[in-house]
Amino acid sequence: MSLETVVVLAAGEGTRMKSTTPKVLHEISGLTLLGHVLHAVSGLKGKNLCIVVGAGRELVEAHVAQIAPHATTVFQEHRGGTGHATQLALAGTSSQGTVLVLAGDTPMLTGASLEALLEVHHKGKFAASVMTAEHPDPTGYGRIVRSEDGSLLRIVEERDASDEEKAIYEVNSGVYAFDGVKLAAAIGKLKNDNSQGELYLTDVLEILRNDGGSIAAVLIEDFIEILGVNDRAQLAESAALLRDLINDNLMKAGVTIVDPISTWVDSTATVESDVTLLPGTWIAGSTKVASGAVIGPRSTLLNCTVASGAQVIESHCTGAVIGANASVGPFTYLRPGTQLGTSSKAGAFVEMKNAVVGDGSKVPHLSYVGDATIGEGSNIGAATIFVNYDGVEKHHTVVGDHVRIGSDSMLVAPITIGDGAYTAAGSVITEDVPPGAIGVARAKQRNVLGWVLRKRSGTKSADAASRHDDGKKG
Ligand code: UD1
Ligand code: MG
Repeated sequence: MSLETVVVLAAGEGTRMKSTTPKVLHEISGLTLLGHVLHAVSGLKGKNLCIVVGAGRELVEAHVAQIAPHATTVFQEHRGGTGHATQLALAGTSSQGTVLVLAGDTPMLTGASLEALLEVHHKGKFAASVMTAEHPDPTGYGRIVRSEDGSLLRIVEERDASDEEKAIYEVNSGVYAFDGVKLAAAIGKLKNDNSQGELYLTDVLEILRNDGGSIAAVLIEDFIEILGVNDRAQLAESAALLRDLINDNLMKAGVTIVDPISTWVDSTATVESDVTLLPGTWIAGSTKVASGAVIGPRSTLLNCTVASGAQVIESHCTGAVIGANASVGPFTYLRPGTQLGTSSKAGAFVEMKNAVVGDGSKVPHLSYVGDATIGEGSNIGAATIFVNYDGVEKHHTVVGDHVRIGSDSMLVAPITIGDGAYTAAGSVITEDVPPGAIGVARAKQRNVLGWVLRKRSGTKSADAASRHDDGKKG
């Protein structure tokens, strides 16, 4: 027998999350809870993938269409329990082969454990096989009740369990492999005679056993894998465990993580060996960091690409491409469309958006660069603003190669500063500056001699000025 159908149960309201977002759409480590589960099943060779949706149906369906377009969804209008949800899923699929059923709220599951469960299930030709684990705090989970010979008798939910049963540490993961034909025959026999008045999928195991089927309870080593997320505390707990797992793997692969507790790398991000991650750093989304880069302390990179040898200090970057040996920060905000060339710089208190900065060009301090193309080897003086917005539309600025923009220049777009050109400090540049020219656009200075003694007499400034002949003039 081989795997035919994978059913993911994701229709519950997630009442305990107290959220307007459906539970399975809450995120940890760059993926939704459902995304983690679908990632775990993605390597299995099941023919059909069916996801039962209910609460927040439109949102969950839209998400499924995005991350698993080959999946079908089945709508469960009212919460009737995990057994009811599985009934609905099976109604639309063939009962041949093996049916794997799992919940959409167990993000730590791995494909390897699912394969191990399927292997036991197929080898032993079981009617059903359930994945279990020994949990140090089994509160809230269904307990695995075994008979004296060790075989599985039934699963009892916490709410329906006796004190004796509550003392059992072996819990139900909510992951099951079924003989599809036997499951189809048994699932119609479910009854809702439990404290929640629901059809429990767990009860199918007892039905199959009573019908003479053999059931396997496959105990996995690490209970972490089966952690279910039902509330915000469990969400944080799973996120932290996943963080530790990812950090351990990165460190084994040659990444220096100075403070693993405060360093978060999404499961969707890539960090090469010999990268250094300093405390308080979050490598998020599809970010890729190449060897030799140093990130942090306290930096966020979301959907960024960082080339080798670059450094990012105390900065927030989204959708930016940071070139080899480029330097970012401290306190820099790079927004989508920023591309920093090799050995370029976006220095302290600089914001950039939709800006291409050529190789070796530097924006060292306190500037805004929006909608711009800067050539190679140019320097943008402190406090320069690329004035890109006229109140209605955004306009583009072009700065050539080896340009020197004086400090506190306003470059009012659309405008082009030619190769090798300069602008004088404090200029409001509203017209193109030709190559090799200097643009000067500021009022000429005039000094009114003796003004302080006349207008501010008796002040410390006047005292200081009166020590000089110049100070008394005028
Ligand atoms: C369930 C199991 C429990 C197990 C635990 C593991 C049952 C009766 N209990 O409890 O033995 O230890 O998972 O995490 O199965 N769902 C639907 N439709 C419904 C009800 C639930 O699709 O009508 C989905 C939920 O969205 C969720 C999954 O099924 O993804 C499990 O439901 P949940 O309410 O979280 O069950 P638990 O109380 O965690
Ligand atoms: Mg649950």
